[in-house]
Amino acid sequence: MFSPIDTRPVILTGDRTTGPLHLGHYVGSLKSRVALQHSHRQFLLLADMQALTDNSGDPEKVRRNVLEVAIDYLAVGIDPTLTTICVQSALPALAELTMLYLNFVTVSRLERNPTIKTEIQLRGFERDVPAGFLCYPVSQAADITAFKASVVPVGEDQAPLIEQANEIVRRINRQIGRDILVEAAAMVPTVGRLPGIDGKAKMSKSQGNAIPLSASSDEIRGAIRRMYTDPDHLRVSDPGKVEGNVVFTYLDAFCGDQQLVDGLKAHYRRGGLGDVTLKRCLEDILQALLAPIRERRARYAAEPDYVMGILREGTWRARERTEATLGELRAALGLFTLA
Ligand code: TRP
Repeated sequence: MFSPIDTRPVILTGDRTTGPLHLGHYVGSLKSRVALQHSHRQFLLLADMQALTDNSGDPEKVRRNVLEVAIDYLAVGIDPTLTTICVQSALPALAELTMLYLNFVTVSRLERNPTIKTEIQLRGFERDVPAGFLCYPVSQAADITAFKASVVPVGEDQAPLIEQANEIVRRINRQIGRDILVEAAAMVPTVGRLPGIDGKAKMSKSQGNAIPLSASSDEIRGAIRRMYTDPDHLRVSDPGKVEGNVVFTYLDAFCGDQQLVDGLKAHYRRGGLGDVTLKRCLEDILQALLAPIRERRARYAAEPDYVMGILREGTWRARERTEATLGELRAALGLFTLA
């Protein structure tokens, strides 16, 4: 599978290790990664260094979640014989490349990056933004280029980061006079973002509106019971609204039978379909989806040495690849080498 003449396109993506993954991650990225590992040479980065850029006050959380996210990957069906899973902080070439790239980008360009601008506002950093946070697009450019990835699956909000990475690639290639670094294309999911159970735009652990992949069957039931429907749908016989009704958004995302969903929508609009019955239908689907994931999760969680072995092997493989890129670049730029 990892033959040196593997010509499949290289894909790199990753997650900040700030908490266990949830259903939003499953819909938005995990599911497609499981499919992409067959058609692409896939690397998954546990981005603990990037996680520190806005979590410097809680390194213990970042460390703990490296293993948690790895277990989530394995539980949803990421196969370590098909996908290389590696740990960012154990890849020193990424840090060296970041230092190099910082000279090929300006502070004002970083401040204008739409992703960073929004995220700084969201976190209320204002002028007190950590330098590491302002520069994380550069570190992400190092991640992408170190692996020579040509495809980077990211959410729509992260697309400007790929553009910024490609700018750095062009600058460096121009400086060297050769195309050593590879430009990457963002691969933005075609499915919409899964809202939180409260109907807020984004499912997020910090908002308390997420269903984690590790949720017990009681937690799943409780979350669906709290799920936002149509506040004006008071009696079963009342006509209800489907738009903005989270239960229907989830049915669209998780029920394989669109005809069934369309039938439920028509019935709900007409009146006569109660929230309790509707929610039971969604619950059956989510329980069936999450039960095997939860079971596999528990089995991997009980074998931390096995998971650690997978990370060790993946990170070694990634080290070779990222150090090769760094070496090429050092030579091409003519950095000093100790004789
Ligand atoms: N920024 C991504 C996130 O917020 C994580 C990440 C780090 C990443 N390095 C990457 C994604 C490289 C794609 C490519 O989850």
